[in-house]
Amino acid sequence: MKAVVYERAGAPSVLQVVDRPVPEPGPGEVLVRVAVSGVNPTDWKSRQSTTPRDGWQIPNQDGAGVIEAVGTGVDESLTGERVWVWEAAWRRPWGTASEYTVVPVRQVVLLGAAPFDLGASLGIPFLTAHRCLTVGETVPDQLHPGALAERTVLVQGGAGAVGNAAIQLARWAEATVVTTVSSPEKAQLAAAAGASHVVNYREQDVVAEVRKIAPDGVDVIVEVAAARNAAVDAQLLAPSGTVAVYADDGGDEVTIPIRAMMVPNARWQFVLIYTTPWFAKARAIDNLAAAVAQGGVHVGADAGLPLHYYPLDRAAEAHQAVQDSVVGKVLITTSAQ
Ligand SMILES: NC(=O)c1ccc[n+]([C@@H]2O[C@H](COP(=O)([O-])OP(=O)(O)OC[C@H]3O[C@@H](n4cnc5c(N)ncnc54)[C@H](OP(=O)(O)O)[C@@H]3O)[C@@H](O)[C@H]2O)c1
Repeated sequence: MKAVVYERAGAPSVLQVVDRPVPEPGPGEVLVRVAVSGVNPTDWKSRQSTTPRDGWQIPNQDGAGVIEAVGTGVDESLTGERVWVWEAAWRRPWGTASEYTVVPVRQVVLLGAAPFDLGASLGIPFLTAHRCLTVGETVPDQLHPGALAERTVLVQGGAGAVGNAAIQLARWAEATVVTTVSSPEKAQLAAAAGASHVVNYREQDVVAEVRKIAPDGVDVIVEVAAARNAAVDAQLLAPSGTVAVYADDGGDEVTIPIRAMMVPNARWQFVLIYTTPWFAKARAIDNLAAAVAQGGVHVGADAGLPLHYYPLDRAAEAHQAVQDSVVGKVLITTSAQ
């Protein structure tokens, strides 16, 4: 099989395309023939900063494909199923930038007839978005149509991959969704994702604009740039509302006005998908599977997430594109596509 491998941390040029034997699934594992590998910022950050623990690493956490074989203890009827894969490369060398990968069976989810492009875009962004939308005190811990009816959500950075996922999931759950962007082009994408109100944070007064839509404040803020937006967020939270901080874009330290946040019993909740408690992740996986089956989430420009395709042997360019903050979703396709 063809696989993308790196043996030392560094620039995209450390990624090499090599020939390897197809792996055998171990006990409790499945062998997946990968059709599409999704690239996220975490993939290039790991590649750039972390020496592979096993001496080699296939990058990329997310992917979609077909189960080719199962290891001992795994239901054989899974063979032939179309699946999406989450956290394939978390503390394992078997990422998805390869024609085949092996993962523990709990890390594959049935995709049904949904496109592989969607499956390869779900794991990191949608699981993170689900956690952000459900971690607050005044929102339910599960998403389904109606779950967020009567609730207002503010998604900071609605044209990003996680921002897009948060908008789509919140809309599927029937929230009112307000989002911020930095340009008219990104505003179009955020509206296509389902945001009912889009604010250009470079040109408009975010607090004033959001207050017009949510005079009593918003229940949840899905926050990509807390260091930049903390003062705005603090002015926009509804009583017992939550700021769910999932990234340190724009700065890694945040100043929060304590007394102003005591008054509404506000919550600032930090989110990392890898270490999210299993009970919350399991709910997110179930809810996402339902959203996919119901046609509640999509990828592509029509859903506010333009797709950028690269073949396996151009994986380095795919990583560079994500590193350069390309707008949309970067996907690596294999010959199994
Ligand atoms: N905690 C976790 O588990 C987790 C999971 C997934 C991703 N992440 C992290 O989250 C970040 C985003 O990931 P992604 O895949 O969504 O990346 P992305 O597609 O590049 O999106 C990032 C978005 O943030 C927006 N943004 C930046 N500064 C902003 C600000 N001050 N106000 C509002 N929006 C702002 C950007 O647009 P403009 O600059 O044009 O505004 C861009 O649309 C990365 O750092 C990633 O590593 C963390």
